[in-house]
Amino acid sequence: MKTLAVIGAQWGDEGKGKITDYLASQADMVVRFQGGNNAGHTIVFGDQKFALHLIPSGIFRHNTSNILAQGMVIDPLALNEEMDMLNDAGVPLTNLFISDRAHIIMPFHKDLDKLLEERRPQKVGTTGRGIGPAYMDKAARTGLRVCTFIDSVGFKNYLETMLPFINDALKKAAKNTYKVQELFDLFKPIRNRLSNHLADTSSVIHDALKKNERILFEGAQGTMLCLDHGTYPFVTSSSPAASSIPLNVGMPARNLTSVLGIVKAYTTRVGSGAFPTEITGETADAIATKGHEFGTTTGRRRRIGWLDIVQLRYAHRINGFTDLAVTLLDVLGGVDAIKLCVAYEVDGERFERFPADHETLKHCKPVYETLPGFTEDITDVRNFDDLPENAQNYLNTIERLIGVPVSIFSVGPDRRATIIRKSFFTEEEIS
Ligand code: GDP
Ligand code: IMO
Ligand code: MG
Repeated sequence: MKTLAVIGAQWGDEGKGKITDYLASQADMVVRFQGGNNAGHTIVFGDQKFALHLIPSGIFRHNTSNILAQGMVIDPLALNEEMDMLNDAGVPLTNLFISDRAHIIMPFHKDLDKLLEERRPQKVGTTGRGIGPAYMDKAARTGLRVCTFIDSVGFKNYLETMLPFINDALKKAAKNTYKVQELFDLFKPIRNRLSNHLADTSSVIHDALKKNERILFEGAQGTMLCLDHGTYPFVTSSSPAASSIPLNVGMPARNLTSVLGIVKAYTTRVGSGAFPTEITGETADAIATKGHEFGTTTGRRRRIGWLDIVQLRYAHRINGFTDLAVTLLDVLGGVDAIKLCVAYEVDGERFERFPADHETLKHCKPVYETLPGFTEDITDVRNFDDLPENAQNYLNTIERLIGVPVSIFSVGPDRRATIIRKSFFTEEEIS
């Protein structure tokens, strides 16, 4: 097996960054394929903790190439900041490649993101990073691609063409407007810096495939935030699903061999939208505190709920998971009774299919199966057999109900608190 997708199986923040960083020690390349700095991926090793928003989580493995592929939307100011942060920490950026075809987020995309939110009767609760408006421009064929951004003439032309429209809209909303020269000057040093990392990344990936190299595709967000398959309209503006990888990186679909679904041991969601298994109160607060459930990007407290098998089976249908990684299992330690939603009920009728309509989803009442919890602190466990029986039982139940092996489980934020039950790339032990 040579290519492996790391996909969020829920509503994001499942621990994709942690698992990608862990597996990256055995990979030749890590590729981010969609989204932008709406993502926040946390990586912890030793006494170091990093939050990455744009740069792939393989960056700490010095022999691994890291690619920002063309399906992404890139805020150059945010990328510049992230590169500074890594530079300051002594992390080399020589193996960082940015697609010449990815789209650029301009400062006014962030203004438009906020403006759209203000005007929506039902707020999506976006991250305010300009993701939606940048993808809107891409679809409207008025977007700015990296290759044009890097080119002085192309970039100036873009600003001269677009700013009159943008400024009109901003003026009407009594927001600050932009000047061509000011934006041009602001981005000059960043354009120079990024041009050193520019590549036809599809071609870089093809070369790697030809050499039989091991490639990890690092998803951002989660399947339920997918523009096509998620809880529309409370979704993001790209597709975090595995099937979007070939399109978004420019590689034949047959080259994707395995799909690892990242499943948090319970469920969280940031922003608005229906969430059938959501809980509030003491247990939710205890989980939020123990799991530090505050957004890596916006700092918002995440909503908490039980694991939802109906939702996860749906995510499996969309992605075809070959394996699962269950993360944050330690956080459930001390919870007396662990609930799993195995069906929904609406108006007394029970069903197991994830509904298309958001209104229906809002009225779905979860039907729970309850499993006994475990009280032990499991953060030092490094073997499935050393887990308390009830924790083993929980993982076995997840495996049985979704029909996919739990090949990895994670018992703490640190890189070492990861237990791998099968080898993904080689037999070597991961450090
Ligand atoms: P991502 O967006 O999917 O990469 O996930 P985030 O980094 O936004 O959120 C996951 C959070 O859980 C981060 O704070 C991680 O450090 C933390 N985390 C990951 N795995 C574990 C685990 O097994 N146990 C605990 N306690 N924390 C974990
Ligand atoms: P990672 O990669 C959790 C959510 C936002 C909002 C919706 C749309 O860290 O898992 P957007 O700014 O994308 O237009 O917001 O999607 N959202 C995320 N939630 N994790 C993420 O990324 C998210 N990225 C976007 O909260 O509800
Ligand atoms: Mg996150």
